[in-house]
Amino acid sequence: MEQTPVLEMCGISKSFPGVKALDDVSLTVRPGTVHALMGENGAGKSTLMKCAFGLYQPDEGTIKINGEEVHFDDARDAMDKGVSMIHQELHPIRTRNVMENIWVGRVPYKRVGPIHWVDEKKMYADTKALLEQLEVKLDPRTMVGELNASNCQMIEIVRAVSYGAKVIIMDEPTSSLTEVEAEQLFKIIAQLTAQGVAIIYISHKMDEILRISDEVTIMRDGKLVGTWPAKELTMQLMVSRMVGREMSNQFPQRTHTPSDEVMLEVKNLTSANPRSFVDVSFSVRRGEIFGIGGLVGAQRTELMESIFGLRPVASGEIWIKGQKAKITCAQDAIQLGMALLTEERRASGIIPMLSVMENTVLANQTAHTKQYTGGKLFLNDKQRGADAQKYVDALSIKTPDLKTQIQYLSGGNQQKVLLGRWLLVNPDLLILDEPTRGIDVGAKYEIYTLMEQMVQEGKTVIMISSEMPELMGMSDRIMVMCEGHLSGIINGAQATDEKIMMLASTYEQANV
Ligand SMILES: Nc1ncnc2c1ncn2[C@@H]1O[C@H](COP(=O)(O)OP(=O)(O)OP(=O)(O)O)[C@@H](O)[C@H]1O
Ligand SMILES: [Mg+2]
Repeated sequence: MEQTPVLEMCGISKSFPGVKALDDVSLTVRPGTVHALMGENGAGKSTLMKCAFGLYQPDEGTIKINGEEVHFDDARDAMDKGVSMIHQELHPIRTRNVMENIWVGRVPYKRVGPIHWVDEKKMYADTKALLEQLEVKLDPRTMVGELNASNCQMIEIVRAVSYGAKVIIMDEPTSSLTEVEAEQLFKIIAQLTAQGVAIIYISHKMDEILRISDEVTIMRDGKLVGTWPAKELTMQLMVSRMVGREMSNQFPQRTHTPSDEVMLEVKNLTSANPRSFVDVSFSVRRGEIFGIGGLVGAQRTELMESIFGLRPVASGEIWIKGQKAKITCAQDAIQLGMALLTEERRASGIIPMLSVMENTVLANQTAHTKQYTGGKLFLNDKQRGADAQKYVDALSIKTPDLKTQIQYLSGGNQQKVLLGRWLLVNPDLLILDEPTRGIDVGAKYEIYTLMEQMVQEGKTVIMISSEMPELMGMSDRIMVMCEGHLSGIINGAQATDEKIMMLASTYEQANV
């Protein structure tokens, strides 16, 4: 006999001003299975899941839980019926500790006389038990503000489990997890499915999807393409069904050759933070794509942010175009022709209420200012619009128009706007920290093409990346770091997964 689906969405449609985000989409999820949801940035994955979680009400269609039709007014309704969701954008309460974040809104109380007190002891014990059950190594009393992005993600996962949900929706859960943590998450997922819980798993990482899911549903432009057993799919098939065409190449044709001219030289740079990087020296040439690999904790972001003037250094020198540079703040770095796309761009990059245009041209205001004899400054709106449109086109940013507030764009499209912002500044040296995280396959190719164009024009690109294929596919040379030390620099053409992993896990063995 057919098992009753735990979640059944039928003919769901949802429109926002200017976009039909969902058009007659159906999804059937069986208990105890991992159901993957795939599609390009802006395909409608998060919107569909927000309908299942009561955050949006569909315009049309029905939702059934265990065969019974439901109407969710809000997320609390959904949680009461056993649906839990881990969001793509995290909003931890930084001034509270781990256990308070897990039990927020459900903190246990005890009564002493006429007064209700927070039952800290019970909360601590419950949290500890939950963390142990899931084998998550976190102290319930650590302040969340002190934790990194991956730990915040773990808290989110633990909270979803704590509701005893029958369906847990995970929207790009591994985008900020280390490999070890991702493995941990897969273990938790296996544990939950064995107990009959269904997981809806959204990710752009195809190897992950093929590995852990039972069924895969693919969406394109707000419509359902289809649902298949994962066993019947290959990466090639998934890609062509997502983008609606065959994609034969993952990387653009390589046509650039780095010059001999040194663009950036770093000599014996040591961080002011004793737990960060130590004595790092390297140089990057004009017209070169320089990759930086390493595991999380290798201090790659810290190194680049220090070169950019965002973090203090204790000793060492930075030379730009043959001149010794004094960089004490980001402004100094920008003046010297540098730009940096940060890793945590959702938190530090976008201004939600401003339009796509404002967010794109933000770093380039001076170039868009008209000065009149009266001394007044005006912003040249026509040029701002034209510049923003150029990158909306080049990066295929999915937005109704340039005036739309950026907060209404899908996660991946918000990231593309930020990349456009720095490309527009046209820097001589562009530093990209995990540039394609959360970005779909088609858009990745577009970003690689833009990188290739930049170096052809004699610019320099430094790319921190944790994705091996991208590091090897794009870099002229790859510098690998391990625990704050430079462990080796290898030629892109000769790089292999093994070589990079070796260098990333130990730094004793000097340059290879
Ligand atoms: N609250 C909203 N207001 C207006 N438009 C919205 C809103 N939420 C989503 N959209 C639009 O709906 C479409 C689908 O977005 P959604 O976030 O579901 O995409 P996604 O598949 O999750 O993409 P990604 O992989 O980038 O996260 C996009 O065009 C987006 O701009
Ligand atoms: Mg999304």
